[in-house]
Amino acid sequence: MARILVREETLDPSFLPAKLVRREHELDVTYRRYRDALTKGLPFHLLLTGGVGSGKTALARRLGADLERIGRVGGFPLRVTYINCWRRASDRTVMLDLLRSVQVSLPDRGYSLSEMLDVFEQGLRRNPQHLVVLLDEASALVRQETKLVYLLTRSHEVHLGSISLILIAVEDLFPYLDPASRSSFGVTHRLSLAPYDRDAITDILASRAEAALRPGSFDRDVLEQIARIAAPNGDARFALELLGGAAHAAEEAGAEAIGSEHVRRAKGSLLPTVSETQLEALSTNQLGVLLALSRTLTRRGATVPSQKLRAGHTALLEELRAPPMSRTTFWRTLKELERDGLVVLETSGAGSGESSQVAMDELPASYLTTLLEERLGRGRAGKA
Ligand SMILES: Nc1ncnc2c1ncn2[C@@H]1O[C@H](COP(=O)(O)OP(=O)(O)O)[C@@H](O)[C@H]1O
Ligand SMILES: [Mg+2]
Repeated sequence: MARILVREETLDPSFLPAKLVRREHELDVTYRRYRDALTKGLPFHLLLTGGVGSGKTALARRLGADLERIGRVGGFPLRVTYINCWRRASDRTVMLDLLRSVQVSLPDRGYSLSEMLDVFEQGLRRNPQHLVVLLDEASALVRQETKLVYLLTRSHEVHLGSISLILIAVEDLFPYLDPASRSSFGVTHRLSLAPYDRDAITDILASRAEAALRPGSFDRDVLEQIARIAAPNGDARFALELLGGAAHAAEEAGAEAIGSEHVRRAKGSLLPTVSETQLEALSTNQLGVLLALSRTLTRRGATVPSQKLRAGHTALLEELRAPPMSRTTFWRTLKELERDGLVVLETSGAGSGESSQVAMDELPASYLTTLLEERLGRGRAGKA
């Protein structure tokens, strides 16, 4: 069996890619802001928001790693510490992690926040540094009226270096900050990442596939198919999961390369989206068009030109000894399937809709074919 996932670890969510395609601008701007402030001995704070999988964690960690590479600024070493606050949604538990980052360990009880802060400053006094603190998944922490954010944004004693913060969350945390902290997060201190669009996801997949998969084991069509599935949520994480899943499915099938059927299989196992009840609700016309589509897709590729599909459908009706369907009814049926989220129609540039590409990413086409053949068979048996 040919290996496809030659460097599978590079698809792991914890892996930090060296290059963040499509976020070069955001990375560049924030990098300069931090570098310029820190060179002047000043802290800089940032509120980083964006939807799930929009690359917040990757951007913040990439920024941190790039900043650390500067080494020393103004006589102090520049250090970055990353804390995921999801499970540590209290000031004290986050503070314990921060203490560890300045090489102080305290038992997890008996100390008040201000005592801990004193110990933290002692730690900094012993090892003066510019510290950039990344507080990821900070919603719960900030929503429960953290004092830590305020204390950290204020404690910049110049002779100890500086403490800079990056607060990372899905939602805008500004409204939850106390008025005193808000002044540290003015408009130039907020960065909101737009969801990735389909092209961006395709580019991200291409760069990550290049690192993780054997050359020749994937092509642009498959990456575009995955991007089409993930684009509605702009979620790069889901796209990468699908890529990994499809690569596994291809390996298991003993295939040399990932095909569109492997993508559908991966999607089906990640999100079983089409239920049998949904199929129950389809009309005979819809079932027929869908069956023609899934049969064609089993044989070839991720999408099929609508003309080809219509030809396949006409042949299917003959096979079923059903009356032919008019062009208009065929189109109306396709549109209905699109509205129900079962197919995607892509009209290429100029011309009428009749030169569309038709895609179905919901289920493995082979599986759908079996389901539909069963249902159509039953329908005919019922009528006979
Ligand atoms: N621009 C990008 N280039 C390459 N990989 C990316 C990019 N943006 C996100 N990723 C990858 O997508 C996944 C989700 O990104 P992540 O930063 O965890 O999203 P968020 O924290 O916003 O939920 C991670 O595996 C990350 O490495
Ligand atoms: Mg994240």
